[in-house]
Amino acid sequence: MNGDSSREDPAALYQEALATFDGLLDAARASGDSEPTAMTLATADDTGRVSARVVLLKGVGADGFRFYTNYESLKGAQLAAHAQVALCFHWKLLNEQVQVRIEGRVSKTSGADSDAYFATRARGSQIGAWASLQSQALPDRATFEARVAEFEKRFEGVSVPRPPHWGGYVVRPDRIEFWYGARFRLHERVTYVREGEGWIKGMLYP
Ligand SMILES: Cc1cc2nc3c(=O)[nH]c(=O)nc-3n(C[C@H](O)[C@H](O)[C@H](O)COP(=O)(O)O)c2cc1C
Repeated sequence: MNGDSSREDPAALYQEALATFDGLLDAARASGDSEPTAMTLATADDTGRVSARVVLLKGVGADGFRFYTNYESLKGAQLAAHAQVALCFHWKLLNEQVQVRIEGRVSKTSGADSDAYFATRARGSQIGAWASLQSQALPDRATFEARVAEFEKRFEGVSVPRPPHWGGYVVRPDRIEFWYGARFRLHERVTYVREGEGWIKGMLYP
């Protein structure tokens, strides 16, 4: 379970886990899943109260798993106070189903990274990022629509810049688990856990 080769090259097991993730995401995309990049993001507040919601994965690399959001949202406030998070993917249409659980610490991506991703978004989504005070109380729908109209007017005829309160986070994993569904509930669970500079691969009872 914990091959010596992985100890010689600390990055090798992490690369193996990322390659496994990439392969499964490709398979989920090909399976007809309407939101293969949707992942549940769990965060916590100072009292230990946990909050979970779905966000979209926008990239995976050696630095971790990236998503974009409003830094002033509920999740943004919780992430500023507690960087430890959990992500969970569930690909229902893959053979026997697959779940991937990731735990780690978030940090904000660079302004340049956030600018580059923001520029690829549809104009309506760009205006929405300015108009939405994400997670704040909204008295009525008309108030939001008025804000959308206000920002459409403000940026009429020009490209929409990224709002300062909007950008990316990257989750640097310290634990990745692949759960493979199997018949008769004999599911398989394969774990990769960061230890110091290296990683340890193991299995769990289902
Ligand atoms: C399929 C799906 C994808 C979503 N993707 C994102 C996303 O990438 N970023 C985001 O901020 N919210 C996304 N949302 C909305 C969030 O689930 C959530 O409502 C919002 O971010 C506010 O969460 P908060 O109040 O906990 O901060 C998505 C919702 C769904 C159902």
